[in-house]
Amino acid sequence: MQTDSSFTFVLFGGTGDLSMRKILPALYEAHRAGMLAAGGKIVAVARHEEDRASYLQWVNEHVKAHVAKSGVDENAWASFVDRIEYVKLDLGRAEDFVKLRDALQDHSGTRVFYLATGPSLFVPICHALASVGLNENARIVLEKPLGYDLRSSNAINDAVGEIFSEEQIYRIDHYLGKEPVQNLLALRFGNALFEPLWRREWVESIQITIAEELGVEARGDFYDNTGALRDMVQNHLLQLLSIVAMEPPHSMDSDSVRDEKLRVLRALKPIDPRDISKVAVRGQYHAGVIRGTSVPAYATEPGVKPDSTTETFVALKVEIENWRWAGVPFFLRTGKRLADRVAEIVVNFRAVPHSALGASALRAGANRLVIRLQPNETIRLYCLAKKPGEGMNLSSVHLDLAFDQFFKEGQMEAYQRLLLDVINGRLALFVRRDEQEAAWKWVEPILNEWAASGKPKPYAAGTWGPAAASAMLAQHGTCWLEEEN
Ligand code: BG6
Repeated sequence: MQTDSSFTFVLFGGTGDLSMRKILPALYEAHRAGMLAAGGKIVAVARHEEDRASYLQWVNEHVKAHVAKSGVDENAWASFVDRIEYVKLDLGRAEDFVKLRDALQDHSGTRVFYLATGPSLFVPICHALASVGLNENARIVLEKPLGYDLRSSNAINDAVGEIFSEEQIYRIDHYLGKEPVQNLLALRFGNALFEPLWRREWVESIQITIAEELGVEARGDFYDNTGALRDMVQNHLLQLLSIVAMEPPHSMDSDSVRDEKLRVLRALKPIDPRDISKVAVRGQYHAGVIRGTSVPAYATEPGVKPDSTTETFVALKVEIENWRWAGVPFFLRTGKRLADRVAEIVVNFRAVPHSALGASALRAGANRLVIRLQPNETIRLYCLAKKPGEGMNLSSVHLDLAFDQFFKEGQMEAYQRLLLDVINGRLALFVRRDEQEAAWKWVEPILNEWAASGKPKPYAAGTWGPAAASAMLAQHGTCWLEEEN
């Protein structure tokens, strides 16, 4: 589907890492697929490049390499580049915003301002846009991290909210744009099969893992001031949790979905600071080996303080205080430099209440649904079956659904979907302010406690994190479940 009408997509941070790796490649893909309206323009804004010619040279040198696994279609690339304009702008100079306004004067259609900059620039940019009237009828896209804690995120939201209304604000959490996350909604609300079982009576526990093999790459400085709780839990993991646990929405319109997610976030059992060591584990990777290659310790990565106490791993036990989920533990985990790159949701169903088939049928975990989001999107349902031969011996078997075997179309990248949604004015996959607030509120006691005392437990790179994360689950008679790739 093509974008509704003409548009102007103004990209602040036009020479930044995110523009290079994600935003411009996603716009190129949408263009190549014929999904961008013909008159749509991209206006890149940055300080470093002198003029359009030098900006396009930068785009050719840096963006092309990040475009499509299938390679670049030179014709499509040339017509994509034709859409790009450039405005050299120094954020501190009011007259540069006048220049920007003049440059946008003849552009018709939807206007989008994408702030691919650090959060400290969000408010100054919004003020400067408003000072030249560019906030009117425009949409603004804010990248994470939006703030550092509840207070700073509220401060940004308050200030931006004075200039743009909530309907104009698109807060990105790229996990919401991933095809498999969309599929989770389809699985839950498009099938009658799972819904009756999706509750405390039948579910014993749920695990959600986002594991990465990568370390902090070139972002040591940023990461060391952020840590895994802010970088991954407050946003991606809590968003996934809210989709797994939400009530069926009345429709898929943006507020119906976001209202239900919000109810989950508000029902998260508050964490008592005295219990933090029982329900939260933090770790930091030491040197180790990943797929046969030695990797250095976090504390020796460029930009990281040698005595850093920043966590690169988090495991949590979360409870939801509502009728559907009371008493069901949700175990969340994320980390850098783990044994594998995988994002997965595991729903563990209860054992049968009585087994006529002998003790082996009372096995916990006999029925489990594993929803793999990445790298290969699959859904696997574990059941018990009789082993061939004499006697009634049960064995675990599974039904597999591999999406790439069913659908020949390749998956759309998260950023591509989200950027098209912004241009088309669809807010459902963006985080509403109240959701964000509820998530910060919930993580804050952990942030405070960790800042005040103790330090992360070490784990070797290439493993599944500190032993304490496994011990936390053992207390509940379960363990982390890692699927074979
Ligand atoms: C980002 C985090 O939001 O998500 C990164 O800032 C992390 O630290 C990334 O690596 C993971 O995203 P994905 O899509 O690669 O799983």
